[in-house]
Amino acid sequence: MNLGANQPFRIIIAGAIAVGGANVAAHTASIPGTKTETILVGSSYAELLGLEVLLGNHEANVAVAKASPKQLEKLSNLMHAKNRCGGFELLPSETDHAQAEVILGSMLTQISKTRLEEAKLKEFKSSSSMQVRPEIVQAFEHVSPEAQRQWVEKISSFNTRYHNSSTRNAHVEWMVETLQNIASQSSLEIVIDRISHNRTNQDSVRARIVGKTRPNEIVGLGGHFDSTVGWFSNDRRSPGADDNASGSANILEAFRIMSQMAQPERTIEFFWYAAEEIGLVGSAEIAQAYKREDKDVVAVLQLDMTLEPGSGPMVIASMEDFTSPWLRELLVDANRTYDLGLSIIADECGYGCSDHASWFRQGYSTLMPFESSFREMNRDIHTEADTITNAANFEHSSTFTKIALIFAGELANSDRRAP
Ligand code: BES
Ligand code: ZN
Repeated sequence: MNLGANQPFRIIIAGAIAVGGANVAAHTASIPGTKTETILVGSSYAELLGLEVLLGNHEANVAVAKASPKQLEKLSNLMHAKNRCGGFELLPSETDHAQAEVILGSMLTQISKTRLEEAKLKEFKSSSSMQVRPEIVQAFEHVSPEAQRQWVEKISSFNTRYHNSSTRNAHVEWMVETLQNIASQSSLEIVIDRISHNRTNQDSVRARIVGKTRPNEIVGLGGHFDSTVGWFSNDRRSPGADDNASGSANILEAFRIMSQMAQPERTIEFFWYAAEEIGLVGSAEIAQAYKREDKDVVAVLQLDMTLEPGSGPMVIASMEDFTSPWLRELLVDANRTYDLGLSIIADECGYGCSDHASWFRQGYSTLMPFESSFREMNRDIHTEADTITNAANFEHSSTFTKIALIFAGELANSDRRAP
């Protein structure tokens, strides 16, 4: 155990790790919402909204463009229209043409890497069938729809988790405390970190179970912990029960259960990201810092919206954009090997719709299972009505905890990695 009430959290500031209390220093000048921003966005969407494009590539449908707060709001509202434009990633405001070239270049490399991986997958499949691990079957006994309900109730009861609200870190403080409690009952080496950011004053949270034999190899599981009711949410009520108290609760449950299991060979990291709703801000800064530090992240699971089975109970989607073919195959294998009883539909967001895109853009492998098909997803998200309604299904939702347990249990105890 590596915890104590007085132990300072390690904080990432501008990519470097510093030691101190919660750092909410004056980054206010760069906080989004008041001025023109530089963003990474689909080039067709940039065109549609008439954004000033610095650099673009039509084949890959990506562009680096400038957008005013009004245009950003429009972009994020467009998601609720039938079309799927809305995805974007905020870039550092001082991004110039040369930096835009680097960013686009890495996107293009990533796209061709994925195509290559698809081709290699056949070879991989025949050599790597999954075997039932008794400890994972045992762990399933601790997965309960009721526990999932209680966490979702608690997390959605904060007035808002919006990154710019006056209570922007209330849920973060609660989470750190909850994780410390869980860690104090575990015999494993666990480190809880609160991570501060440059582009938001909201913090992310990370819990790390240190690996026994290959601690430098990392398996990541995460979801965004913030909520929104639109671009200028401020202190307005924003329960975000489905989006994304649900995925946050799955990650918390997976951590709780794994803290009582044997020490994994690889390190497992659990993330609750800040400020996803304004352009994947928390996860983008974390993934960039990991890349810069050359961290060996084997795979990252993203859980964002697991509560409402819009395509039917136990019918889920596996998003095929910004995710890795070998992990999508692993999900299919997991469902078969562990008899999860899921029907898995292949679907896509059509843009970098959640934090997995941040990792994928840095060249890491990702997976994103989702509550339903994209078309049939919960339409109440980003409104005050995103609460626990009659449409919520905690049996369905807690199946994502099982997915997380298999993902971590299998990947952190084998030498599997991208083919
Ligand atoms: N949970 C949503 C996104 C989502 C929608 C995921 C549908 C999967 C299927 C997420 O919190 C969100 O709202 N994302 C933004 C994009 C971001 C770049 C601002 C969106 O979709 O507008
Ligand atoms: Zn959202």
